[in-house]
Amino acid sequence: MELVAHLDVAAASLLGRAFARDPAFVWVLPDEATRAAKLTWLASRLLRLVRQSGGRVDSSDAAPSAVALWLPIDGPFEESLWRYLRAGLWAAPLVLGARAIQRLRVVEGPTTELHRTLAPTPHDYLLQLAVDPSRQGGGVGSALLHEGLARAAAGGRGVWLETTNPRNVPFYERAGLTARGTRNLPGGVTLVGLSRPAP
Ligand SMILES: CC(C)(COP(=O)(O)OP(=O)(O)OC[C@H]1O[C@@H](n2cnc3c(N)ncnc32)[C@H](O)[C@@H]1OP(=O)(O)O)[C@@H](O)C(=O)NCCC(=O)NCCS
Repeated sequence: MELVAHLDVAAASLLGRAFARDPAFVWVLPDEATRAAKLTWLASRLLRLVRQSGGRVDSSDAAPSAVALWLPIDGPFEESLWRYLRAGLWAAPLVLGARAIQRLRVVEGPTTELHRTLAPTPHDYLLQLAVDPSRQGGGVGSALLHEGLARAAAGGRGVWLETTNPRNVPFYERAGLTARGTRNLPGGVTLVGLSRPAP
């Protein structure tokens, strides 16, 4: 239990730093000075949500250098308010601010719609994958991604994820995923949904 708590604190910090330059989060949280700290808080709640929902938190090593959050989705994707509240996201307006919540909802609408439409069958959802910025480009992300992909295949499940960073699309395509659709978000950001069918 203590080890899990320690891992989650380090994992949230890593996720907060790694996503600080993500195009969608730059639009949601325009203040650069506070963005990584706010994303760290958000990541800590997502970690809790994944653990409470029977998902998986994969990490590359003890540091950890990379973290992946996977959620099992057993039908068309739906937002669950109760699940969010239970994970502590009720405090989001206080921590992130009203404007960020408004912007998160703007991003969440097309993200959920794309996911629900293009991945209607049971699958593993890669909610977040990140490598410590000092270790990016060294193959750590690919290795951790392949761990989750192998587990999904062994369980006879498909995989779904979204990204708003164009550089990530070939990264996922090299791992065997296919871009299925896009949605335009404010701030000139394009959301891409990628999936791999169940074997
Ligand atoms: C995307 C990410 C998980 C890839 O892991 P990684 O260990 O850095 O990547 P690998 O060394 O296994 O593979 C390199 C490829 O990753 C992709 N990539 C995306 N962002 C990158 C970055 N900041 N640095 C290096 N590679 C990056 C590129 O396609 C790259 O190939 P290229 O050098 O030919 O362009 C990692 O860079 C990261 O955490 N980025 C920030 C958070 C993020 O965007 N997560 C994915 C959200 S969907």
